[in-house]
Amino acid sequence: VDVELHERYADSFDIGAAVEPSMLEGKDAAILKRHFNSIVAENVMKPINIQPEEGKFTFEEADKIVKFAKENGMELRFHNLVWHSQVPEWFFLDKEGNKMVDETDPKQREKNKKLLLKRLETHIKTIVKRYKNDVSSWDVVNEVIDEYAPNKEGLRESPWYQITGTDYIKVAFETANRFAAKDAKLYINDYNTEVEPKRTHLYNLVKELVEEGVPIDGVGHQAHIQIGWPSLKEIEDSINMFAGLGLDNQITELDVSLYGWPPRPAYPSYDEIPASEFERQAERYDQLFQLYEKLGDKISSVTFWGVADNHTWLNDRAEEYNDGVGVDAPFVFDNEYNVKPAFWAIID
Ligand code: XIL
Repeated sequence: VDVELHERYADSFDIGAAVEPSMLEGKDAAILKRHFNSIVAENVMKPINIQPEEGKFTFEEADKIVKFAKENGMELRFHNLVWHSQVPEWFFLDKEGNKMVDETDPKQREKNKKLLLKRLETHIKTIVKRYKNDVSSWDVVNEVIDEYAPNKEGLRESPWYQITGTDYIKVAFETANRFAAKDAKLYINDYNTEVEPKRTHLYNLVKELVEEGVPIDGVGHQAHIQIGWPSLKEIEDSINMFAGLGLDNQITELDVSLYGWPPRPAYPSYDEIPASEFERQAERYDQLFQLYEKLGDKISSVTFWGVADNHTWLNDRAEEYNDGVGVDAPFVFDNEYNVKPAFWAIID
């Protein structure tokens, strides 16, 4: 292989990968240095890992990723400052240790809201100040839209929402903006951003934020997609919708699963995946990157949610839905770090 993936797309966007600190040496590291010019932490920068107890910040693992990015001249995305998942319980407990969401007294609820927003501010301020000079893109809020939410706006009814309404979103962006580098970009990140009704829910929220002057720079499209879903048209329309608001787009967690959803009869082991599957997947990657390239002035980075097929969160899902046995193969490098047909599809 005498081409570099990120060089191939240098005129359009950065090419990134999600990493665990353990991937910063050995074969993953070699591929990262060669083919990628941007990285993001798969887990270690999430609230549960960065501030597991109130006031106790643990930066060790996160620092390793920051250092690797710096040493190799790579962009760094920060994932994430606010999420409903992988967030420690203490955020949502009042001073007596009771769950804030259970509070019924209006006065006490008001106090709880203040306390939670204060905690949020402290969390964001501490992190953003520390990594200000290292991070170029921040996932400020993650997955705040829920297409199954009982409210008509599709706002996810997480504890964040139940305790603060949408104020947590605004406070998060404002605080991040206050401490981030001037040229850093702030994103709202979500999955299924291509498909209705989620796309419109997200659009309406983002439009409102923009109109209210909330400092938001762009939309992160996770893009946990499949070979046959969503359609190229849906993907294109979604990028154009948000660009129409004057915002940037980033593809933040790309993986192309071999399987539909549901049901998901998965191949039991990697060796049992037929070559024809990789050909089908290559075709999808080919069309996808042609589209991304065409929309290149509206997309500033494309990040895969991993490096090679030996490490992907989709394996956990394949197992979960197939009685504990099953593998997926979503990337352009196989489980032994060789290039797949999908790699050549997006190079040529
Ligand atoms: C996933 C990680 O890949 C897993 O290792 C972890 O167990 C759970 O989280 N959307 C996101 C990511 O925004 O943070 C998730 O990452 C995948 C879905």
